[in-house]
Amino acid sequence: MKDIITLGIESSCDETSVAIVKNGREVLTNIINTQIEIHKQFGGVVPEIASRKHIENISEVTKQALKEANINFEDIDLVACTYGPGLVGALLVGVGYAKALSFALNKPLIGVNHIEGHIAANYITFKELEPPFLCLIISGGHTHLVYIEDYTQFKILGKTRDDAIGEAYDKVARVIGLEYPGGPKIDKLAKEGQENIKLPETYFDNLDFSFSGIKTAVLNLNHKEPNINKADLCASFEKATTDMLINNTTKAINEMKVNKIALAGGVSANSYIRERFKILGKELGIDIYYPELKLCTDNAAMIASAGYYNFIAGNVSGMELNAVPNLKIG
Ligand code: KG4
Ligand code: ZN
Repeated sequence: MKDIITLGIESSCDETSVAIVKNGREVLTNIINTQIEIHKQFGGVVPEIASRKHIENISEVTKQALKEANINFEDIDLVACTYGPGLVGALLVGVGYAKALSFALNKPLIGVNHIEGHIAANYITFKELEPPFLCLIISGGHTHLVYIEDYTQFKILGKTRDDAIGEAYDKVARVIGLEYPGGPKIDKLAKEGQENIKLPETYFDNLDFSFSGIKTAVLNLNHKEPNINKADLCASFEKATTDMLINNTTKAINEMKVNKIALAGGVSANSYIRERFKILGKELGIDIYYPELKLCTDNAAMIASAGYYNFIAGNVSGMELNAVPNLKIG
């Protein structure tokens, strides 16, 4: 069969990324132009600035990707872009650019759900991984437990009822004086601390999550005891949030009778969470997958991969494709 080359575009938040991926799993290039340095001074992503920066960068990042993959526009078979969920102005830049490319090159356009992209990051890291499996998507915007029936078929088993886990990490980091994005800073500082502070964990009858309770508890504690050991607080926060993830995932494993679990999303870069899931895998005798670090956070290679599998399934978008900020999965 002829190779299929996908050009993927990701612009849903603060990363302008363009990737070229062969046959859905082989990354020829994955350029990520991050705006973190710009948004850092505001303590979080400023949507207006994000869209403006995407506009400034997208053409240059695309040129760079083609150069690095050593291909021309004519070699591209598919154009895939994130069309939601995310910041509407930021998404529109990628969608508009992808539509123009698809039209000019006369190649199919594939609109990709960002969450499906995070799941697909695992296909790039693990060439042998195939559905069905269970995926825990933990990022700045999402916390979902999903049963992956097939490449484009998903069943939502549980999701957060309030804050996404990454949102809680970033907020906790900010109040204890760590820079945006706080997740990686908490990861680092926690290694110097003890899990000796009791924090509230929230559980429901079903597989939903909630992280606003623990977030508020940490904020109040830090306010009441400004001299509290920040490393201990980070370690205890990591432990409690991971306990909640492990609890629901274990329930889902029993319910769905799966023997493969994949993690995905920015928070799956967390070293403590990775370690705890590795231990869980050993205990239960099941395989645990998590994408290589660069593919955990937002990038276009995962979008190209998900775009490829949507193309194979016949899900091609038309020129009416639009940004859908609150796009759901499943
Ligand atoms: O997947 P992502 O790049 O964007 C969304 O789709 O939301 O995830 C970004 C989130 C941020 O909240 C960031 O703090 C978190 O991932 N993150 C981490 C780590 N690396 C990134 N959280 C905990 N530990 C990390 N090592
Ligand atoms: Zn993401």
